[in-house]
Amino acid sequence: MIAIGSDHGGYVLKQAVLEYLDENKIAYKDFGCFDENAVDYPDIAMKVAEEVAKGNFSRGILICGTGIGISIAANKIPGIRAALCNDTFSAKYSRQHNDANILTLGGRVIGPGLAVDIVDIWLREEFTGGRHKTRLDKIAQIEKHYWKCGGEK
Ligand code: RB5
Repeated sequence: MIAIGSDHGGYVLKQAVLEYLDENKIAYKDFGCFDENAVDYPDIAMKVAEEVAKGNFSRGILICGTGIGISIAANKIPGIRAALCNDTFSAKYSRQHNDANILTLGGRVIGPGLAVDIVDIWLREEFTGGRHKTRLDKIAQIEKHYWKCGGEK
């Protein structure tokens, strides 16, 4: 099940992604926002990222204007590997090499056609493990070192 959210800058693109998820019968929960009124992207990022970090949702999708702010915010939550992918190549390797558990998109950067291709690839690709697992373990060590308060996995 996918947790999805956006700020006002990502609202329109999120509607296209929701349409894709509906058409492909992919289950999701929309954590807002629900119109184009301005909201603060860290609030949405935290809601979605916490749900993914707790294991309540297998993956998340977050959209803001550039995809940058919402990705920075989501990556503050321990256990989150949020990847900003405004192209299909990055989407593929963010899964294969980084085991990204949140995809972020720039609603003011890319159009709905490309966004849906990115989401489609990102949801299908799997983590390849091996040497990449060693690197992710090192990222987890960094989290452990700097975020001593920890976080639920
Ligand atoms: C909101 O205006 C905009 O700053 C936000 O959507 C995002 O682009 C931030 O990184």
